[in-house]
Amino acid sequence: MAEMSGQMPASAEGMDVLTRTPGAGTPESTSEKVVILPKMDDHDPATHAWADARFAADILAEHAHFFALLMPEELAAKERAEALRFQHSFAQLYDRIVADRPPERSDVKAFVAPLTEAIKPFIEYKARLGEAQSSGKLRSLVWPLFFDHTRHEAERWERRFDDLARGEPDFERGEVVKFWTNIMDEHARFVAHLLDPDEYELIEKAFSASNVFRKLSDDSVGGTVAALVAEPGTVVDSLVQHPEVDAVMSAVQTILDFKTQAVRDIEAGRIKSIIEPRLADHVRREALKFLNELKRAV
Ligand SMILES: [Fe+2]
Ligand SMILES: [Fe+2]
Repeated sequence: MAEMSGQMPASAEGMDVLTRTPGAGTPESTSEKVVILPKMDDHDPATHAWADARFAADILAEHAHFFALLMPEELAAKERAEALRFQHSFAQLYDRIVADRPPERSDVKAFVAPLTEAIKPFIEYKARLGEAQSSGKLRSLVWPLFFDHTRHEAERWERRFDDLARGEPDFERGEVVKFWTNIMDEHARFVAHLLDPDEYELIEKAFSASNVFRKLSDDSVGGTVAALVAEPGTVVDSLVQHPEVDAVMSAVQTILDFKTQAVRDIEAGRIKSIIEPRLADHVRREALKFLNELKRAV
């Protein structure tokens, strides 16, 4: 891919290029992917459509890739082949989007249509295999919750592209907080269960982060108090590190810092785990997206 060699897509011009190290401009390792998003004051559905389509096509290709990695031929040959076909089709869409300029405003609907069409059968696949894995019909290494989690993400992308097709690029805080706090909670539990069982301290940290996000899904003083009561150390630390913002935003910033450090430690072999660096970077980018949407939300 052109941009992996340090060349930015032409459409990135005039948008924010977000890297692990703020302002670096280029990836620091082979598993870092840069996030390209419209400027904070940009309310043009066309630029949002391009940036979100680029982000989502890659995320969805990665979901398929992670499924394939967790589906040994011996256990799930047919499902693995299906996953690889999804990976291929989302990677093709990604390449097309990156080569494209943002659409005209009047063409947003047509621009996002191929992606929306590709998402529908992937949602169906995630639902079907989640069910099979839960009931024991499928014995892959993909947790049922991982099928559900990635399905919920795909369903939200579908809603997002429907909104953009209707010319609505803005985010609503209640929706953003409810959706992403749940995702952050689940990421933390995935991390806890993929760390080497000897990593006591990090496993505990991950569970504590999960508790905080579960409480903060109630985006009110009550939710903050509940988070504080459940995990006083974690919440106070994050408010001390990011005192300028509210409890949800400081928790998101803190989990982003945690994931950024974690992916570096995984790459360098300082953390023992079965977490693939690309999966670690994937959840980091999703935390970054949460933070970015939260800043835009009204
Ligand atoms: Fe994801
Ligand atoms: Fe996720």
